[in-house]
Parts: sequence; structure tokens; C-alpha cells
Amino acid sequence: MAQDNSLANVVISSKRLPNGFEYIEIKNDSATAKIALQGAHVYEYKTNHEKSILWLSETSDFEHTKSIRGGIPVCWPWFGLPKDKNLPQHGFARIAMWRFISTDEVDANTTEVIFSLSSTPQTLNLWPHKFELELHVTVCDKLIMELKTTNVDDKSFKITQALHTYFDVSHISHVNIKGLDKKPYLDAVSMEDKEQSGDITFNGEVDRVYQEAEGEILLEDKNRTIHIQNEGSFSVVVWNPWIDKCRRMSAMKDDAYKGMVCIESANAFSDARVIKPNESHTLKTTIY
Ligand code: BG6
Repeated sequence: MAQDNSLANVVISSKRLPNGFEYIEIKNDSATAKIALQGAHVYEYKTNHEKSILWLSETSDFEHTKSIRGGIPVCWPWFGLPKDKNLPQHGFARIAMWRFISTDEVDANTTEVIFSLSSTPQTLNLWPHKFELELHVTVCDKLIMELKTTNVDDKSFKITQALHTYFDVSHISHVNIKGLDKKPYLDAVSMEDKEQSGDITFNGEVDRVYQEAEGEILLEDKNRTIHIQNEGSFSVVVWNPWIDKCRRMSAMKDDAYKGMVCIESANAFSDARVIKPNESHTLKTTIY
């Protein structure tokens, strides 16, 4: 597919890297985006008037079976490390090949694309439930992601999940996150339950799962503020690996922690969702 269309400046094209890695490129009057078919992974999003909102590692893998380091990995049907250590961290959706379903050129400024993933014998081996998953990505002056899980099995199942957004920041020491004051969180570094006091700032490793999160989150950087609005979600993960963990991370340069922070729109821990047969749950985030 290489589809130019009636809206003069709107382009939606299907492309491949030299190693065969496939992605969809979107350009419209407001923004550009690149979305890999593996993982339905949005790895670039930029409005036409400012620098990228998303962080992408300079050393990221664009290889089958390895998650891209940066952008927005879709962590599903579990968030974090499962008890069975043979299963992949953050689930299999971020390394699965999704189907590109459709595009809607809403107007010259707004393009919507839909990807889907369904259970197969391979996924049933990893997770014994029949499902249909759809990701709607709207590229406009905002980036809107809607991840809809439908249970097509005959018994209920439980999921945890996250839209694991890596934000590009001028320097982690300039970052101030607002909107989670007084919220309880699990500190995954010390494994203690704590309560947030004031804004979140960074002077060491931060790996926290906030609960009871409601309302807008603001990522304040030196020269810009990014807004994050979540729906269908009461949990938010905030992560920066800092110096030592960054050195141990795959596909990240040693000093990469300085230029990124993850604020993940989630259904994690006590915000896990049980979905009954023929019912759906949608996790949505709007970023601008
Ligand atoms: C975050 C976790 O969501 O993802 C961190 O809270 C983890 O503990 C990070 O290190 C990256 O995970 P991965 O599997 O992409 O290396």
C-alpha cells in the first residue's frame, strides 16, 4: 500500500526498513508519525511546529522479536514480570505482528489508523484466553491512543496493561511531574508502599506504580509542558532508570536516562481489569 489521497498534504504509506521491518508513516497538516506493525508500536510522533514528544533510543533495535526501546510499547496482557520467568516481561503484544486494519483521513489535520491482534495457537500457549485487541491511533495536534480489549472466550479473564510512553525531555533534572500529589504508589525500587508528596522530580532511579490516579498529568520540562489525559485507567507508572540501571538496560546508551522519562497509562496492580465474555475494556490516552 502506498496511498496518497485527495487531501493534498495527507500521506499514509506502508514502508520497510532494509531488514524488512515494516512500519506505517503518516503525514498530515498537523503532525507526522511512524508506527511499526510489530507491536503496533508508535515510535515517532511530532507535531509540525515542535520537536518530538516521544523519546526513541539512538541504539534501539528494529528487529523482529525485540521491542523497540522508546515510543509507546503496548504492554499487554500483563504489565511487568509474570511469575513464570519463561514468559516475556510486559506481555507479548509489543513483540507480536499486528494487522493493519484501516485508515480514516478525517480531515487535513487528523488521521486515524487501526491495528488489531487476535489470539492464535501461539498466544494461547502463552496466555490461555481468546481475545481481540484493537489499537486506534489518532494523529493530529494531539496523539490519541485507544487500546480496546474484547473477551471472545467463554470465561472471564483478567489483564494488566500499559501504554508505556517514553517522553523526550531536555534533561531529566528539569522534569517536574504534576497531577499525582497524595496518590498512593508502590515504589518498585525499595518495594515499599508510599504516598506522593507534591510534584515528582528526579535525582535517582524512579520506578513507581501510582494508584487512584485521576485527572490530567502534566510533564513540565524546561521549555514546554506536555499534557497526558487517561481514560479507563486509575494507575500510572513513572520510570527513569538513572545511572546504574541504564547501564544494564538493553538498547540504551549509558547516558540515555538523561533525555527520557516514562509516564505510562496503565491498568496495573490493584487496577487490573476483569473482562467478561463478549465485553470490552478500553484504555485511552491523549497526549499533547
Ligand atoms: C517499566 C518498569 O515499566 O519498564 C521498569 O517499571 C522496567 O521496571 C521498564 O525496567 C523497562 O522494561 P523493558 O522490559 O522494556 O526493559
